[in-house]
Amino acid sequence: MSNPSILILAGDGIGPEVMDEVKKIITWYGDKRGLAFDVTEDLVGGAAYDAHGVPLTDETMAKAQEVDAVMLGAVGGPKYDVLDFSVKPERGLLRLRKEMDLFANLRPAQCFDALADFSSLKKDLVAGLDIMIVRELTSGVYFGQPRGIFEENGERVGLNTQRYTESEIARVARSAFELAKRRDNRVTSVEKANVMESGILWREVVTAIRDAEYPEIELSHMYADNCAMQLVRRPKQFDVILTDNLFGDILSDCAAMLTGSLGMLPSASLGAPMANGRPKAMYEPVHGSAPDIAGQGKANPIACILSFAMALRYSFDQGDEATRLEKAVEKVLADGVRTADLMGPEGGTPVSTTEMGAKILAALD
Ligand code: NAI
Ligand code: MG
Repeated sequence: MSNPSILILAGDGIGPEVMDEVKKIITWYGDKRGLAFDVTEDLVGGAAYDAHGVPLTDETMAKAQEVDAVMLGAVGGPKYDVLDFSVKPERGLLRLRKEMDLFANLRPAQCFDALADFSSLKKDLVAGLDIMIVRELTSGVYFGQPRGIFEENGERVGLNTQRYTESEIARVARSAFELAKRRDNRVTSVEKANVMESGILWREVVTAIRDAEYPEIELSHMYADNCAMQLVRRPKQFDVILTDNLFGDILSDCAAMLTGSLGMLPSASLGAPMANGRPKAMYEPVHGSAPDIAGQGKANPIACILSFAMALRYSFDQGDEATRLEKAVEKVLADGVRTADLMGPEGGTPVSTTEMGAKILAALD
């Protein structure tokens, strides 16, 4: 059997800087754990535009469809702001998500003890926090028709449509329930069934899937406004949160800030199972290309490294190895190693991107 395959699309700005550290970790797994990957690299975003005049070539798109997992850095930068919308760097990312049909976006909000002081909440509210938000990513109000701005009765009207089919709800619900089986067997499904028909259908379908296929999972329902409130009041009550595209966009950013820096946040976007049983998958840090610090060796590589840990867990069935990597990150943080974005008011000397990567490799050893 051939090795599992990874396509690396490092992208722009700090993307290639943080991805360099991930590449060393991928090599470490081959050398030290007998987990060899077939790694190929290609261009996305502004880097692809500079080379080919498009933010993602058809060839790269085809490769992404074939591999077991795509690792993406970040795209965009001020240099590309002048470009036409159709070739903007972000379009490369959107095309990947759309054509791979990555409908389940997994956003963990996990608080490392060493960084609990970084949270906007009191330490005891967030210490040990470990939430996973599953956001539907390919439908809902960002895509629903009709949409547009048009004239009506002598004034302009802006229109978007929240629209979900049963099958769209069912497939992302299954993703959340499968995830819950690996965690705490609990899912909180979030909508506004009190005021939205799409929310009524969401609640019905999620409940039916649980009853028929996942009777062991404890399912509760919560209105999105209450969920926002509970996330900042008592976040540790949650384990897996399942929600739609719009609410998920907002709630995942809200939950993320409970844990500190943007430089710490990984994500996974999963689609339907491929012929080999693995889901279509793309892993990427939540942050962007950070043009303000690009090229200075200041970027925190942890978000990208933890994204690779998610790949180990969700694409390669290597949960124990994922935990090993997460523990290495935890140890380095507990030792007080900090990139500039993790420096508290007490100050200290930050390490560089490569120093942070080296410390994590050393902790793995
Ligand atoms: P950003 O996430 O790039 O940066 C926001 C702030 O966080 C900056 O001060 C940056 O220095 C800091 N930061 C981000 N990641 C960091 C890391 N790993 N270590 C240390 N500090 C970090 O968001 P911004 O500034 O709004 O966007 C910059 C560019 O990135 C834009 O072109 C935007 O379109 C693009 N972008 C791309 C995304 C993606 O590729 N998924 C997501 C968000 C933005
Ligand atoms: Mg957002």
